[in-house]
Amino acid sequence: MIEQDHRPKLHFTPPFGWINDPNGMVHIEGNYHLFYQYFPDGLTWGPMHWGHAVSRDFIEWKHLPTALYPDELGMIFSGSCVYDVNNTSEFGKDGHKPIAAIFTNHHEVSGTEVQSIAYSLDGIHFEKYYGNPVITEPSLKDFRDPKAFWNPINNCWSLVLAANDRVKFYRSDNLKLWSKTGDFVVGGNGVFGICECPDCFPVKTECGIKWVLIISMIIPVDDERKQVHKTQYFIGQFDGDTFVDTERSDDPLWLNCGPDHYAGVTFQNLDKPVMIGWANNWKYACDTPATDYRGQMTLATEIKLKNTALGWRVAMTPLGLEAYKTKELYVNSGVKFKSNAFGVNVRGADNEKIIFSNEEGEEICIEVTNSEIIVDRTKSGKKVFHPLYDFYGKTIAKRFSYKDFELKIIFDVSLLEIFADDGLISITMSVYPDNPYSTLKFDGDSKVELYYFN
Ligand code: FRU
Repeated sequence: MIEQDHRPKLHFTPPFGWINDPNGMVHIEGNYHLFYQYFPDGLTWGPMHWGHAVSRDFIEWKHLPTALYPDELGMIFSGSCVYDVNNTSEFGKDGHKPIAAIFTNHHEVSGTEVQSIAYSLDGIHFEKYYGNPVITEPSLKDFRDPKAFWNPINNCWSLVLAANDRVKFYRSDNLKLWSKTGDFVVGGNGVFGICECPDCFPVKTECGIKWVLIISMIIPVDDERKQVHKTQYFIGQFDGDTFVDTERSDDPLWLNCGPDHYAGVTFQNLDKPVMIGWANNWKYACDTPATDYRGQMTLATEIKLKNTALGWRVAMTPLGLEAYKTKELYVNSGVKFKSNAFGVNVRGADNEKIIFSNEEGEEICIEVTNSEIIVDRTKSGKKVFHPLYDFYGKTIAKRFSYKDFELKIIFDVSLLEIFADDGLISITMSVYPDNPYSTLKFDGDSKVELYYFN
């Protein structure tokens, strides 16, 4: 049987091969550069490269040549890029300003992880620095994923790096020599685990600038097999050396409530925080139905902070979609879809159940009550490819406002993204229907608008 292609139309996918984390995202003169963990020679995780693509609107991507290949220090794991406009690194030449990449070299045999740099003067070809590695900590395991940013407090470069049960901050004047400035240890809220892919960035609010620290985490649970990969965030201040979580919450704050959002980080050199994550889950990522590629990114979302009754929380708004949308039209229950990339806006006050289904009886069910949003993919299509896909079959998100609701649902062939309660709730979920969903049904009194993506 030929595998059905579940390739989304709006979400980023590679031309072929395997992808995971987004890397090195940087904005330069209207171009959004996306690098990503890439194994071009297979459909499962393998020796990691950095793939590369560029977009001007976050939706249409132009694929560029592979940017970084494994070397004698190891595979090229996750990391970031900065635009070194003032040529602090002195990598620039003849007026060409360098893009500097800082990434982890993971040694395949010893498992050693060190941080290295490379630079590009044309935004396509990268040269590795002869002095690599630039950060080492021989005694540390799980020491990876540097995210560099301009430090406006001490006027230098800083980076945040995952180091097992914590993240570490470093500073540098030239991107080559780095010194440690502080640690932020996770677990204060009861969630322990191995940190990955941290990010730290300022957000403007009506009460001044607050900083957000993002940490993707491998969280152990009783049953080792089911260990969870999820992304936490903390809100507070960056004092120039380290992050302090001044807006403490008793409960952990999760960035996305769905099962398929991991390793999300923001663009550098942009005046607002815009994030892209990997829309997959390590538990079953290597087994999902695939043709010539495997893995996809989430939509780009702007991150804002909102002051809720529970305290400050992250809110997400998807970007870039407007130009691709047809007119939104009110529809009744039972309407047939004309395409498998569509958006549905639902506004109501009472409980509602929205179902996308096909003639095979496969369906996704989205239920809204005044306290929860429940998304059920347990009957959505293919699922026996991995037992834990079904273990993550239902998402239950606690609602923020307890009255009227407004859901923005984006469905893109095999990816569902839901934004609710002003973006305070976001849910990303993959599904693999045998045939496209053909019908939209709902049973409450909500106003439902449908539109398509061109
Ligand atoms: C997170 C991660 C990173 C690592 C990369 C390897 O998904 O495990 O910590 O750099 O993937 O591909």
